[in-house]
Amino acid sequence: MNTHRPFYAEALQGGLVRLAEDLSSSSPVVNPLPREGSPLSEGELEHQGLRLVLKDGKASFYYRGEALLTEKDFAFDPLRTYVKDKIIDREHGATSSDLTAGGITLDDGVSYQKVIAFALDKESEFFALGDHVGPLSRRGYEFVNYNTDDPSDHTENKKSLYKSFPFVLISLKGHYLGIYLDNTYRTLFDFMEEGTMNLAAKKGNLDLYLSVDDDPKAVLYRFSQLLGRIPLIPRWALGLEQTRWGYDGEKDLKAVVDGYKKADIPLSAVLLDIDYMDGYRVFTFDKRRFPDPARFMADMKKEGVRVLTIVDPGVKVDPGYRVYDELVGQGLVATLDGKTYVNEVWPGESVYPSFNDPSCAETWGKYVDSFLKLGVSGFWNDMNEPASFRGELPPDVDFHGVSHEEMHNLYGYYMGKATAEAMKKAGKRPFIITRATFMGGQRYMVGWTGDNHSTFDSLRLLPAQLMNLGLSLFPFAGADVGGFGGDCTPELLRKWAALAVACPLFRNHSAINSKRQEPYFYDERTKEAYRNAAKLRYRLVPYLYDYFFGAAITGMPLLRPLFLEFPSDRLGEKISDEFFIGNAILAAPVLNPGPDVRSAYFPKGASYYPFAFGKKIEGGHFELVEGHPGEMPLFVREGSVVVLYPEGYSDLDHNPEEIHFRAFPGQGKCRHYVDDGDSYLFEEGRYDLMEITNDNGKVEVHYLHHGLGAYKKAIVETMDGSYEIDLQNR
Ligand code: GLC
Repeated sequence: MNTHRPFYAEALQGGLVRLAEDLSSSSPVVNPLPREGSPLSEGELEHQGLRLVLKDGKASFYYRGEALLTEKDFAFDPLRTYVKDKIIDREHGATSSDLTAGGITLDDGVSYQKVIAFALDKESEFFALGDHVGPLSRRGYEFVNYNTDDPSDHTENKKSLYKSFPFVLISLKGHYLGIYLDNTYRTLFDFMEEGTMNLAAKKGNLDLYLSVDDDPKAVLYRFSQLLGRIPLIPRWALGLEQTRWGYDGEKDLKAVVDGYKKADIPLSAVLLDIDYMDGYRVFTFDKRRFPDPARFMADMKKEGVRVLTIVDPGVKVDPGYRVYDELVGQGLVATLDGKTYVNEVWPGESVYPSFNDPSCAETWGKYVDSFLKLGVSGFWNDMNEPASFRGELPPDVDFHGVSHEEMHNLYGYYMGKATAEAMKKAGKRPFIITRATFMGGQRYMVGWTGDNHSTFDSLRLLPAQLMNLGLSLFPFAGADVGGFGGDCTPELLRKWAALAVACPLFRNHSAINSKRQEPYFYDERTKEAYRNAAKLRYRLVPYLYDYFFGAAITGMPLLRPLFLEFPSDRLGEKISDEFFIGNAILAAPVLNPGPDVRSAYFPKGASYYPFAFGKKIEGGHFELVEGHPGEMPLFVREGSVVVLYPEGYSDLDHNPEEIHFRAFPGQGKCRHYVDDGDSYLFEEGRYDLMEITNDNGKVEVHYLHHGLGAYKKAIVETMDGSYEIDLQNR
């Protein structure tokens, strides 16, 4: 297929190049960046080392004189099956002989009107694209960006999950090239055939943003300017959370808090699944289960446990129910042929708010605010693909002037945005755990990976899923610890908890018909492992929080594939089951049943020490490593300092009097940020920012900003014992 459509190119401030059919319009998720120089439709443009040549309607990209991407005619991969082995134009019945018309119909039966095909080096590796399951590198796979609620197991051949991130980071001839396709319709990224990349869009424009560098972090940073970064999270969000579908009200939740306490496992939050509502009507409480929600939440808060509520988008059709009456009465819901559109979700017949309508967002914000006033600390947004039990919403359902097919992938994004804006207005740092979202969603929400299963397969897929989400600029996510569907074995729960220590979201959740999965229901050995994991997690909170402070400034994820830290060691691109936590800690989780042992790769370019000190390990080879119950094998890069809370500390609402710096042999430095964890007072300077330098265990602390005076002293833990640094009177 020939792509004889007009293309225009422009260079944008911040190191991005755009190639689009129409430079005057873009999706609502991009930040407009100022143009540099003039746009062109033919000729050459060079920007930050990337040279784009537009000639005879085809685009090619070069970097330092080398060809990176060359547009070519779309050709069918002889190895794949198509619905019909010809190009189809539905309207005109054109066939493959008429190459310029129509689009392609793929084996999913969907026609894509626009395709752009590139030739690139056969050895290229492909990353990002969100939380699609599979290996870290997407090479050899194909993905459909279309938010999908499919209850079957998440296996590596799934083309769509709940979220869509039409963004790929390509490792190509020793460089990293990022490409974002700014199109919210269903799109397809095909890396099946080596040496070829096909990008297709069902509708809308082909609108590509590109950037290249030798350092993948530089590429991510540039895209974070275009697509936004996560705002500062509340610190308590890094604590342990518990939920389950099927809790029967207050008494069950109190038993959860007691269970955790008796098992000596710290807990920061519980989440209420759909059962808390009155007949699944959003923004209501069931009176039998929660006679006095405000008192219940205040009681929980006294125990140090916050309450978050699930809020689904489907609003029950029920005249007399305020939310329904207001939204429908004010015309703030989706319509079809001018009439309110009805489908079915948990409450039965339901309507779908048009969150992209500012009036709808505002009204929704009022409901959000009423929940905040009752004492709700955050939200869990589910079913926002949007899910619908009576078949998919027709493409022309209208959301405030935008068709469902254009809006579909943005639905969860807009729902999270409306919720986040209401939280911010109320002076709260947004914490919204969403199932569906789109590129740029990190500005408003965090995520979880949906309905996984209690299987080692689900566990094995998780590190790559979270790393690829991070590479899609979405740094805060996690999976249901222990798995959602099915029964979790003790061994699986132990190993899952050990991995969850590093997952931004550490939330145990399970389905209504599964065996109870709270750790205190398990045997002593499993409880102990979970306790160890929890305690290690709370020790790591200041370290993790530092990286989320960093992510808000640079867009860099917490969980990093090895190549993000060591791009010159290409082997790291093939490793799906290890990652860096920030830039200091290398994690090699044990993801299989059996002994707590595995082989781990130590990237070239540094040496490492076990997290609890011990023998130095040189980089550049594999080694057999061993975990402990609740602690996956963890290693620290030489010279690093890991900032830790004191042993046993779990109060994330306050700062401890002492902070620990675990300093490893070698030279290095890091920054440590501390504030009150939950307000916006940092904007007024109420925070400390320290620079900590380490020379073989000799640590010095220098305040870059001293607006809080959070700690009295620091305990430096070194290979040869520990010592104190006074942090008062500075
Ligand atoms: C969906 C969610 C799941 C939740 C259930 C009931 O399946 O993904 O987490 O428990 O709905 O609300």
